[in-house]
Amino acid sequence: MQIYSFLFKWKKNCQPNFKKKVSLQFVRTVYVCSNQLVASFEEAKKNRMSQIENELETSRLLRDWYRIHKRELPWRESSDPYLIWISEIILQQTRVVQGYDYFVRFIERFPDVKTLAEADEDEVMKFWQGLGYYSRARNLHAAARSMNGVFPKTYSGVLGLKGVGEYTAAAICSFAYNMPYAVVDGNVYRVLSRYLGIETAIDSTEGKKLFASLADELLDKAQPAVYNQAIMDFGAIQCTPQAPACLFCPLADSCMALAKGKVQQLPVKQHKTKTTNRYLNYIYVRAGAYTFINKRTENDIWKNLFELPLIETAESITEEAFLALPEFTELFVGGEVPMVRLVCRDVKHVLSHRVLYANFYEVSLPEETASFSSYLKVRTDELEQYAVPKLIHAFLEKYV
Ligand code: ADE
Repeated sequence: MQIYSFLFKWKKNCQPNFKKKVSLQFVRTVYVCSNQLVASFEEAKKNRMSQIENELETSRLLRDWYRIHKRELPWRESSDPYLIWISEIILQQTRVVQGYDYFVRFIERFPDVKTLAEADEDEVMKFWQGLGYYSRARNLHAAARSMNGVFPKTYSGVLGLKGVGEYTAAAICSFAYNMPYAVVDGNVYRVLSRYLGIETAIDSTEGKKLFASLADELLDKAQPAVYNQAIMDFGAIQCTPQAPACLFCPLADSCMALAKGKVQQLPVKQHKTKTTNRYLNYIYVRAGAYTFINKRTENDIWKNLFELPLIETAESITEEAFLALPEFTELFVGGEVPMVRLVCRDVKHVLSHRVLYANFYEVSLPEETASFSSYLKVRTDELEQYAVPKLIHAFLEKYV
């Protein structure tokens, strides 16, 4: 009513200034519009309030769940950014059960930035042996060397470390410094896409932006460390990829995917990982107490790890074809005729984007052989000191 009388006063006062009369209809329209504006503002305020209440409720439910189901993990006992960094790098591509022992061994040998920076890279690789994704270990080592003994204390400083992306920087800064950065890893994508019923592909540019902003919106800014750990554990234990425990889920009442029957379809991914096959023929040389190895230096799988002499072929080849390959025959000099035995064939080894098929040959030569001179000659009983890929390690364990 106040607006109405104000408009009438305004109409009267302004009348002389207008060439045309301000019609009653115009006043009415302005009145209706202004009322609608106030109403929609009130509505938006109410919506926002209930959204905030929902977010707080979701965050409380997650924290309550976490208090009961939290996994006791060694890196959670500490707020030392160095230890959290090591754990996060290990857990980037590795499940907790597999990474646990590696973490314990790693920090026992390299308890702080300085020790890691001073270590030899080959030793760091040895501690990583079997974990895969070896660039993680090389980057850790390089990053430790770049720190001058002090772990960075800001988000941008942490993000600037080699091998640290947005997820890892958010994890380190929230867990170690309680900074309000939301983590968005595979677990978080899954929980958010299901809970909010979002079908935008998580690996699209649009999806990445959308989920980052949703995660940020939902983050409990008062306790980011606990909230981030809670949502990650919730994804890892409760809202799992294949068999989520929806029957006993504290978020079930408000889960959009559950309501729409879309739990199994979410999250959506637009790209399937393309895999290629590779065919590796390894040669284990018995030369008395010695054998030969080689350090991989190319920007390829297993960079900086050691392996047996290798001949890679475009496809799987028979023993006869292998023995006739010039790359094989040219390995032997001074008229040496090796004794060759095929030890095992088509050993399948699956990496993230590749499937490897390996054949292993054993070649016997005299201890003083002149063949394989471009390789590193090492004592067989000292092979353990070299970091080798899991595939090679398994062969050496079983056959040597
Ligand atoms: N995966 C990645 N980071 C983790 C953490 N801090 N705890 C459990 N699982 C994780």
